Amino acid sequence: MGEKGKRAWPKVAAGAAAAGVVAGGAAAIWRRQWALVAMRVAIRVVKSTEGMDVTRVLEAQHAEIRRAFRRAALPGGRRPGAFRELVRMLAVHEAAEEAHVHPAAARASGKGRAAARARLGEEAQAKQLLADLWEAGPRSAGYLHTLRALRRAVLMHAAREEREEFPALGALSPARRRMLGLEVKLARELAPTRPHPGINTSMANRLAMPVLGPADRARDLLQRWRGED
Ligand SMILES: [Fe+2]
Ligand SMILES: [Fe+2]
Repeated sequence: MGEKGKRAWPKVAAGAAAAGVVAGGAAAIWRRQWALVAMRVAIRVVKSTEGMDVTRVLEAQHAEIRRAFRRAALPGGRRPGAFRELVRMLAVHEAAEEAHVHPAAARASGKGRAAARARLGEEAQAKQLLADLWEAGPRSAGYLHTLRALRRAVLMHAAREEREEFPALGALSPARRRMLGLEVKLARELAPTRPHPGINTSMANRLAMPVLGPADRARDLLQRWRGED
């Protein structure tokens, strides 16, 4: 190294050290911000589930899904947005049930175990239909036809959950039911926003949610930036 190079080297090292300090500081700020956001979300969810056990949380989500189906069928420029919202809502709801509700029902009783197994099979079929519809998009020729088929399958599935699985959940303690309601609501913050037909077990959902959820949200953001529907 020449004389000039030797003189420049401490400056480069000092610059690199300063950049390291800045990057380290930025990472610490980012971690703090993330922890604050996570805490705010948790507090909001805890407050919103006060007095609500899991069956009431799920019933409220089933009603939301029924309304979302009606909006997604309306003609006009708002249809793509309404369709995206429906897909997000279904993906979130079913992923949360697979991760938390069906395993709890299955553990509660023999009847709960049979009901949970049947519901998982129905969810796998609905997810495939939803993935096909997602691929085809809300402007495709067969959109309304497939949407109606999906609506029938999802609403029948929800009615069976309320009739056959909710009694098993009713056998759990009030504290456990409330905790499950909380888990379903919290899962909404991490869940995927589009259907992933290959992910259909409670463990796969628990492992996939923190990965697929943020990945889906990044893709949604990218699509919005590009102005894609
Ligand atoms: Fe379900
Ligand atoms: Fe459900």
